[in-house]
Amino acid sequence: MGNQKYMTISARDIAKIREEEFSEIAGSGVTYLNNAGTGPLPARAVKTLNTWATHRTKPWTISDREHIFPALEKVRNQCAKLIGADASEIALTTNTSYGLSLAANALPLAPDDVVLISEHEFPSIVYGWRSAAEQKGFHVKTLAAKNGLLDEDALINTLNAPNVKAVAVSWVSFATGQRIDLARLGKACKDRGIFLVVDAMQGIGCSALDIKTCHADIISVGGYKWLLSPWGTGFLYVRKDLITTLEPPVVGWMVGPASEKYEQLLRYDLTFYSDARRFEVMTLAVQDLIAMGSSLELLLELGLNAIEVRCQQLSDRLINGLAHCESTSIITPASPSKRAAIVTVAVPDSLATSKRLSEAGIIHSRRENKLRFAPHFYNTMSEIDMAVEHLIRKQP
Ligand SMILES: Cc1ncc(COP(=O)(O)O)c(C=O)c1O
Repeated sequence: MGNQKYMTISARDIAKIREEEFSEIAGSGVTYLNNAGTGPLPARAVKTLNTWATHRTKPWTISDREHIFPALEKVRNQCAKLIGADASEIALTTNTSYGLSLAANALPLAPDDVVLISEHEFPSIVYGWRSAAEQKGFHVKTLAAKNGLLDEDALINTLNAPNVKAVAVSWVSFATGQRIDLARLGKACKDRGIFLVVDAMQGIGCSALDIKTCHADIISVGGYKWLLSPWGTGFLYVRKDLITTLEPPVVGWMVGPASEKYEQLLRYDLTFYSDARRFEVMTLAVQDLIAMGSSLELLLELGLNAIEVRCQQLSDRLINGLAHCESTSIITPASPSKRAAIVTVAVPDSLATSKRLSEAGIIHSRRENKLRFAPHFYNTMSEIDMAVEHLIRKQP
């Protein structure tokens, strides 16, 4: 997928990329392991932001037709390449929540239909679907977790329960780092005519997702974590044959071809685009989305398969480093196929340990009383070793 230059990413490649794209991190003395919180902008994205900000100081030098629309189309193409979709299936958005809420409101769900979600989901799934359920009358059924993790077998069994019409699920859990088998779940949903809506915020960018094998109907992802993109960016994938069956619940002024004719805007013709642009609420943050395109260019050059391998190596190192440490336990599933790049670690006093790590410049996050480490491809093995060393160090 993409314009991939690398099969694997070597330590030499990393050194070069850190110098060229992440020099602030490389020279900071900080060990940044919080990409599940906020990813850093690579230098090329910052350059794009500056270029477009400069264009905006002279708005007469930029035209919608010549510059902005083609630039946004290029970004849609890049998003599509990232997951093996067609550009017509991509809408540019502002965040993950928008796409999830759109799915909850636009899918044909009637009173008494059941939507399955699982316990411990990030609020954007829970709130978006609960709120739509209150308005449309369908039911949200929450599947209990098993040992703190999503129980994939139980989820698949529950698809056979009466009136189940949709499943909304995170590909990778923000809290535990568990990555679910989308191909298996997608096939099970497809076989039963059940919609599958995926929050891919903690997966796309550090793991490879191929739309051809995962059978998702709708996927939403924000840009500011693993896609190394500005806040307020993201994209939505909607399966091609579903697009024209869904009316956008939020209707912008550029939802259809009529608005392309600026000289005839008052002819009002609410015919939606037949592609996913019908879901875009224009005017979007043009400069930020084009900068997202620069970050995606970097990811596509590296290739998500190579990035996934690299992230697995980094997280394996962390997991193996803590294997014999009695005071820590790994919450994230051990099997590499069941995790992406997040490693969640339970420690006896998470607040104190978190403080100690932060004082040592090891930037991580604390979620649900556990410590979350989230290395991206640009992190180094010695950074992981540093985190391990501080985690296993005995308290004075
Ligand atoms: C799984 C998941 N979904 C969604 C979000 C946030 O989404 P948004 O892009 O709407 O800010 C997060 C943020 O931590 C997340 O972890």
